[in-house]
Amino acid sequence: MKRILSGIQPTGRLHLGNYFGMMKPALEQQGQGDLFLFIADYHALTSVPDPDQLRSDIHSVAVDFLACGLDPGKTTFYRQSDIPEVTELSWLLSVVTPMGLLERCHSYKDKIARGIPPSQGLFSYPVLMAADILAMRSDAVPVGRDQKQHLEVTRDIAGRFNLRYGQVFVIPEPDIRDEVAVVPGIDGQKMSKSYNNTIEIFADPDEIRRKVMRIVTDSTPVEAPKDPGRCSLFALFRLFADEDEHQELAARYRAGGVAYSAVKKELASRIVDYFAPFRRKREELLANPDYVQAVLAEGARKARSEAQKTLKAARKAVGLES
Ligand code: ADP
Ligand code: TRP
Repeated sequence: MKRILSGIQPTGRLHLGNYFGMMKPALEQQGQGDLFLFIADYHALTSVPDPDQLRSDIHSVAVDFLACGLDPGKTTFYRQSDIPEVTELSWLLSVVTPMGLLERCHSYKDKIARGIPPSQGLFSYPVLMAADILAMRSDAVPVGRDQKQHLEVTRDIAGRFNLRYGQVFVIPEPDIRDEVAVVPGIDGQKMSKSYNNTIEIFADPDEIRRKVMRIVTDSTPVEAPKDPGRCSLFALFRLFADEDEHQELAARYRAGGVAYSAVKKELASRIVDYFAPFRRKREELLANPDYVQAVLAEGARKARSEAQKTLKAARKAVGLES
């Protein structure tokens, strides 16, 4: 069975971009592939300096994934820091990683431009990410488009290692869905917690309505024809519509007569309805932290035994073991 793996950093409340870009495509593959999902807490250390904040974010992202339908009977769900083999593997990978490969990474440049201190950990982040993926011998990695370059770095590192030391690693394929590759935020840029333009999936319904009403649209009059391809409100609506509804709204945009405020109202109510059952499940999980910890402990046990196998092969290949 195909192994599918993805991870998310525990660095704040989950938003529509996280959900449609990564969580939903990953969770849809539960049962079809051998799914591994993890909380990238070693990664989060590059940007979350407060220990209490980190602890609380780790728990909350675990709860949110389980609330959104992660089934621990089908999916191996774990914390990255429960698998120390990943950090050892990242060292073995780092010695075959050219500096230039990391120097080209947009994500590092974007992060320092946003004021995150440029630590060595932040710079070598893609090597740790490669270790996450390669340790579990992942075939496919569902992520949003912003992670595409990191996947290319992973493939490059794995290829170099295999070339030098023999076939140790599986070369993973990125799984990026075109229709949700970039979910726009309420200001029309990519939705991201660092741009302060998110709609959080578990915000309370009033806040969701307020945010939706603030989605930036152009000033075309109601009766004028509109271009659905250039409207972030349309792009967000599409996430909550079936194909017929999507085509119908596109036709109404082109014909003219669509009032943005009516589309916003409808969108807000669809977002609230869509997440309502997850919200109920989330309340139950919040009342049961021991269950959440037990799921992560069991996931770690399974993931760790996988990582140990890979690490053993890698240590042998480089000459640390015979
Ligand atoms: P943020 O940009 O809010 O910090 P992360 O970088 O933590 O989000 O992203 C976690 C996952 O969610 C990644 O797989 C990423 O590709 C996906 N993702 C984040 N924002 C979006 C978006 N606007 N559209 C599509 N996918 C996204
Ligand atoms: N870098 C990813 C992000 O910021 C999170 C991540 C870490 C990840 N390791 C991974 C995603 C391995 C997929 C596979 O969103």
